[in-house]
Amino acid sequence: MATVRSVRRDAGDDPLTMLTAYDAPTARVVDDAGVDLILVGDSIGNAKLGYETTLPVTLDEIASATAAVARAAEDAVVVADVPFLSYGADEADSVQNCGRLLKEAAADAVKLECGPHTVDLTDRLTDLGIPVMAHLGLTPQHVNQLGGFHRQGTDQDAAARMLELAREHEAAGAFSLVLEHVPGNVAADITDALAIPTIGIGAGPDTDGQVLVVDDVLGLSEQSPPFSEQFGDVRSEMERAVDGYVDAVESGDFPADEHTHVAEDVDELY
Ligand code: KIV
Ligand code: NA
Repeated sequence: MATVRSVRRDAGDDPLTMLTAYDAPTARVVDDAGVDLILVGDSIGNAKLGYETTLPVTLDEIASATAAVARAAEDAVVVADVPFLSYGADEADSVQNCGRLLKEAAADAVKLECGPHTVDLTDRLTDLGIPVMAHLGLTPQHVNQLGGFHRQGTDQDAAARMLELAREHEAAGAFSLVLEHVPGNVAADITDALAIPTIGIGAGPDTDGQVLVVDDVLGLSEQSPPFSEQFGDVRSEMERAVDGYVDAVESGDFPADEHTHVAEDVDELY
């Protein structure tokens, strides 16, 4: 069974695998495949809730999805993403909100999109027993500030600032670090500089692990980022099944005798 402790020690060993999941049946498939960590990402906003960004996702939505995933996952570490403005503005509120994801939703850890404002919070949360996965590079909750979903850390100053923030979050107690949409050489250097494992998405092959959005992997997303990879075509299979159902009802083939029970003891009613 994977734990926050085993993940922390994994840096440099076998690549860590992480996928998102937002519901119990998907979490079961992901867990059965032996994935080390399941992220209940705020990507639920795009993947499941029909939003354009992650900003509208609420703590209640993440808590509900996390509880479902935690009920299904037996071996994977369940990490709950903390939504936009549910952390960072006020420390006491941040602690209560993050704590709720462990206390009520049975997450094993939380993930925070990081900046200078999350260093002290990471320290406080880990002191309290709430493991923190940090996240640097493209932090999609900053889309309005960033002016789009662009690659980050592409010049010397920005890459050096990212490394500095990575070190500060490691020192504050983060057990791992997601690096999203950063140049592969920058991700490799940050990985070398840290003792905790890095988990990349759009960050090249030299991080300690990889994460993707499960809907992108399955071929369910309407739009997926250029750095993701589709490993199946679940959407086509869903379309085939739904078309089959509609055709069968319209043609009278469904329901058939085997789907139908006749109560022998009931006489004709009129
Ligand atoms: O919400 C999410 O799915 C994420 C991953 C892309 C790291 O934050
Ligand atoms: Na996220």
